[in-house]
Amino acid sequence: MTLDGRHIVVTGAARGLGERIAARLADAGARLILADVLAEEGRAVAERLGASFVPLDLGEPESIEAMAAEVGRQTGGLLHGLVNNGAIATGIGGIPHDQIDIDVWDRVMRVNVRGTWLATRALVPLLRASGSGRVVNLASDTALWGAPRLMAYTASKGAVMAMTRSYARELGPDRIGVTAVAPGILTTESTGYVPEARHRLYEEGRAVPGPQSPDDITGTVAFLLSEDALTLTGQTLPVNNGFWFN
Ligand SMILES: NC(=O)c1ccc[n+]([C@@H]2O[C@H](COP(=O)([O-])OP(=O)(O)OC[C@H]3O[C@@H](n4cnc5c(N)ncnc54)[C@H](O)[C@@H]3O)[C@@H](O)[C@H]2O)c1
Repeated sequence: MTLDGRHIVVTGAARGLGERIAARLADAGARLILADVLAEEGRAVAERLGASFVPLDLGEPESIEAMAAEVGRQTGGLLHGLVNNGAIATGIGGIPHDQIDIDVWDRVMRVNVRGTWLATRALVPLLRASGSGRVVNLASDTALWGAPRLMAYTASKGAVMAMTRSYARELGPDRIGVTAVAPGILTTESTGYVPEARHRLYEEGRAVPGPQSPDDITGTVAFLLSEDALTLTGQTLPVNNGFWFN
């Protein structure tokens, strides 16, 4: 599969899964623009992959608008793909529902839900102009099976799945496909808090047993960004080595 010459934005690409997705898309020939709130790390990744970097804070509408304007300048107004990967995924796990700080809840919703809505909205004109735009949202398996002690995060990822369906209907007439992937638990900075026993439960419960790494997700994301994937629009694909089936 090739993404040759397709202009694609990946948010949250400074580390973790976003960085691996960017590497995979670069291998497939995409012309990448990486965006992240971690500017130094993001720039280093971009340099390594031959991509460009744009600073982005998904919690701030002005920052999202500035990112979109810069993407427009760099792409000549034509964008083929957006990966809404950037999210607050770290430091919010293992907390019971009645001990979540209200400010933390609001911050997670602002970045993960409102940020995904606004980043997509800001880039739709460029996606429409390319004639074959694709949006891939990072959801999470945790929202589908109901992970405990992770309430703000799971609620935000449930909202991302709902938005995926609504955006698919609103943007379908422009031949923009909108999908989500829901990975199982991966080994990244954001899952350090997960107890060893929970990792084992996942690993043993998978149809294909064993751990899942970010690199097990990236091929699906690349496919969903391709010309071939339009017919899947609106779907959330659980990419979890068969932990459960939909
Ligand atoms: N790691 C997993 O097991 C797992 C499982 C399912 C889904 N996911 C999803 O995959 C995506 C990446 O997760 P990860 O494990 O790599 O997490 P991570 O915390 O390692 O990386 C998240 C990235 O998003 C960026 N980010 C955070 N807040 C931002 C903001 N306000 N503006 C711009 N960028 C911001 C971070 O700087 C970082 O580069 C997330 O959407 C997460 O919900 C991860």
